[in-house]
Amino acid sequence: MQDYTILVNKKHLLSSDYVPENLVITDNNENNFHNYKDPNLKPMISADILPYFEAMQKAAEALGLRKIIVDSGYRTYAYQKVVYDKYVAEVGEEEARKKVALPGSSEHQTGLAFDIAYMDNGVYIENTNDIDPEIKWLKENAHNFGFILRYPEGKEEITGYKYERWHYRFVGVEMATILYSEGITLDEYYERVEQENHFRGR
Ligand code: DAL
Ligand code: ZN
Repeated sequence: MQDYTILVNKKHLLSSDYVPENLVITDNNENNFHNYKDPNLKPMISADILPYFEAMQKAAEALGLRKIIVDSGYRTYAYQKVVYDKYVAEVGEEEARKKVALPGSSEHQTGLAFDIAYMDNGVYIENTNDIDPEIKWLKENAHNFGFILRYPEGKEEITGYKYERWHYRFVGVEMATILYSEGITLDEYYERVEQENHFRGR
């Protein structure tokens, strides 16, 4: 079983050959429009988290919100490099590092993270906005389904990334609820554990 609370960031890397075991293609694959125009690329996430994602999707729809879909899910190490290199070419290295993870340091490689988009009456809506009711609802409710907004506003110095309203990460309901109620990121949680172990002399 995958460790849902795994920390992947600029300091905690995955090996280049790490591939999660049970990936599934999400139901919106036929509508997938991807920036990098690879027709073989369909959004996949870990099968373990699919029921949680679908429950969240249904709860949002039941409130009259648009269907929340996976826009970009699992990325291989090699594909993360494509994404990163493309961004460097567009905006330069310094700026790219604040927005796209270097290969090995992306949560997308775990299958536990994804970027969201919407389906609006059959139309794929890639652009999200802070005033969208879906974004507001996700911020306050995703933890009930085990997901966290991984790169929040005001935590840029800690996460190393600019605010990403679209990037959600599964950590399980228990951990997500702790992080949400304490207003801390996964990075801060692990820093705290490290400090506590240090004081205990471990
Ligand atoms: N945009 C996030 C940080 C990633 O590339 O994984
Ligand atoms: Zn992302």
